[in-house]
Amino acid sequence: MAASRLIRLVFLTVNVLMAVVLVISNSDFCASVFETKTDHVLVGHVMSTSTVADEFECHQKCLRNNSCKSFNVDPGADIAKRLCELNNKTRKMKPDDFIRKKGSSYYGQVKRRFTCCFLPTSAHQQEKKQTGHCHPDYKGKDVKFPRGWNSKLPAYSCKSIRDSGDSKGDGRYWIDPENSGNPLNVYCDMTTDGGGWLLVSNVVIGSTPPSQLPVKTSYRGITSDQMVLTKTAMNELRTNLSFTQLRFHCSKNNGRTFHVTTVANTTGEAVVRYFSGQTDVQPASCGSYVRMENDNSSLARVCQNWGSENGVYTVGKWGHGQNQDRLYIYSAFIVSEYHWYMNPPYFFFFLR
Ligand SMILES: *[C@@H]1O[C@H](CO)[C@@H](O)[C@H](O)[C@H]1NC(C)=O
Ligand SMILES: *[C@@H]1O[C@H](CO)[C@@H](O)[C@H](O)[C@H]1NC(C)=O
Ligand SMILES: *[C@@H]1O[C@H](CO)[C@@H](O)[C@H](O)[C@H]1NC(C)=O
Ligand SMILES: *[C@@H]1O[C@H](CO)[C@@H](O)[C@H](O)[C@H]1NC(C)=O
Ligand SMILES: *[C@@H]1O[C@H](CO)[C@@H](O)[C@H](O)[C@H]1NC(C)=O
Repeated sequence: MAASRLIRLVFLTVNVLMAVVLVISNSDFCASVFETKTDHVLVGHVMSTSTVADEFECHQKCLRNNSCKSFNVDPGADIAKRLCELNNKTRKMKPDDFIRKKGSSYYGQVKRRFTCCFLPTSAHQQEKKQTGHCHPDYKGKDVKFPRGWNSKLPAYSCKSIRDSGDSKGDGRYWIDPENSGNPLNVYCDMTTDGGGWLLVSNVVIGSTPPSQLPVKTSYRGITSDQMVLTKTAMNELRTNLSFTQLRFHCSKNNGRTFHVTTVANTTGEAVVRYFSGQTDVQPASCGSYVRMENDNSSLARVCQNWGSENGVYTVGKWGHGQNQDRLYIYSAFIVSEYHWYMNPPYFFFFLR
């Protein structure tokens, strides 16, 4: 059964391959906040152009390049082929080149006034009055160091960064859920459905899909892209981090988007427990998730037909069994129809 269906999915793929991990260096610490201006672009300072599926991908490209100060996202020939232009200037530096352009968006690094740009060397120093060089723009009195912006002052989770008001938008942050002094550089989605989402697994499959993806058995694997997590890794994560919801997002070029979030009630909690290996009982699909705004998948529409249990299909449940691979192999599927299988072209997995 698996073989023929897998091939079908593989052929649905066309996408850009996204490279791995980015690290916001200390020197970028003050400048890694982005502002958004819709219906505008900065012209004349483009250093590279590429096509992307969404703003998120363009943002990541910009963060990965130290010369990138801002970027424009233009609508492309189709919605999943947007044009991503990386600029080496911002609109503040070149106000004359900042022009209106309907349908496009500009994202530029800004320096926040409240940020005093010198880094505490330990979490304890946050409370102390400090000396050091602040950003020239800095006008504030209270030196409040935002949590999660630097490895020296990691936050507990993406959600705690959001809750404490330290979010600087979607992007990389440092968290140390174990309080081990060994923080992780992770991607937080601070906009979707209120934000506070930790990106746990992100796989983008190009026109030549990899034959295999690395399987991580420790949750520390979440710092890299293009990998999948076992139930053991998820279990470790959940004991260290008390997340309550999972979000599944998969999109295909020229295809549908599957995008659902588990509900924050006991029906949704059963799904979190199953994927975190806290139980092997397959959770009910109906009533366990809500469809996100951009979900137009057929799969999410017919929860009652999901899953298989003990060789019986169409049982209205998540998953297919008790294996380690429950998060990436037939996690949500309708037999012979639609599958969350680890070879989709564009795979996201968040939790909060
Ligand atoms: C910025 O990019 C432009 C190309 O648009 C290039 O001509 C210029 O040298 C770059 N400037 C810097 C400082 O990298
Ligand atoms: C940033 O991108 C430009 C244009 O693609 C490239 O020339 C430059 O080497 C990149 N810089 C870094 C630090 O990756
Ligand atoms: C937290 O994760 C670490 C691995 O980094 C693991 O050794 C530890 O057992 C986890 N903590 C709990 C309470 O499970
Ligand atoms: C589903 O929505 C995506 C955007 O999220 C769009 O690109 C795609 O064309 C839509 N597909 C269908 C079949 O409606
Ligand atoms: C959880 O919420 C969903 C969606 O609102 C609902 O369908 C389901 O019945 C709820 N479950 C419980 C146990 O309240």
